[in-house]
Amino acid sequence: MPITTCVFDAYGTLFDVAAAARTAAGEPGRDALEGSWKRLAQEWRLKQLQYTWLRAVADAHTDFWNVTQNGLDYALEAVGLDGDAELRERLLALYWELEAYPEVPVMLAKLKQAGMRTAILSNGSPDMLDGAVRSAGIGDLLDGVLSVEDVGVFKPHKSVYDLVGKRFQTEAQQVLFVSSNGWDAASAAGYGFYTVWVNRAGEPMDRLPWKPQEMLSDLVQIPEISVGVE
Ligand code: LAC
Repeated sequence: MPITTCVFDAYGTLFDVAAAARTAAGEPGRDALEGSWKRLAQEWRLKQLQYTWLRAVADAHTDFWNVTQNGLDYALEAVGLDGDAELRERLLALYWELEAYPEVPVMLAKLKQAGMRTAILSNGSPDMLDGAVRSAGIGDLLDGVLSVEDVGVFKPHKSVYDLVGKRFQTEAQQVLFVSSNGWDAASAAGYGFYTVWVNRAGEPMDRLPWKPQEMLSDLVQIPEISVGVE
């Protein structure tokens, strides 16, 4: 079935989640971060995601801003920087204005030119997503920004993927779903979306019962793929 609607995961897919720690590490007076920002970024992201999964299965939802702070607090302690309250505040502030990957605006513009609808479907809370979309300047290129807060449970709960059909009146097969998170891409493929995994780091495929239809190393070819699906 031809694709009518292209839906993107936000964090890690359109927005570079490592940018907060990397930017902070480049600021004057941050010598302590110089050798540890990569590990900090990794631990932060991993714990943030683990907490979303655990809260989903334990039926203990809170919003993504809370789990983002919980993940950061764990990560700061893991790298021995939990005493630096100013750094914590700076990293959280940077998370509201993460950089978009450089190809994002042109890629979205091409999708719009091809007549596709475009949207974000994210764990992020509406205000976090609003901040990221604004700072990336891509609001005009999106037809919707869908947040799990509408259903009160994190990905990969099925009710999150249901938000797309409810909003756009699409069948799952009319949706191209794009995520850099292997588990999100696999789960979306299991749901029935035509799915692209953006595997920038060359990671192994997740061992889950579902596989994404396509794997790319960045977002450049998304417009081409979206018009090629039959
Ligand atoms: C999101 C997380 C999974 O944006 O990156 O939903």
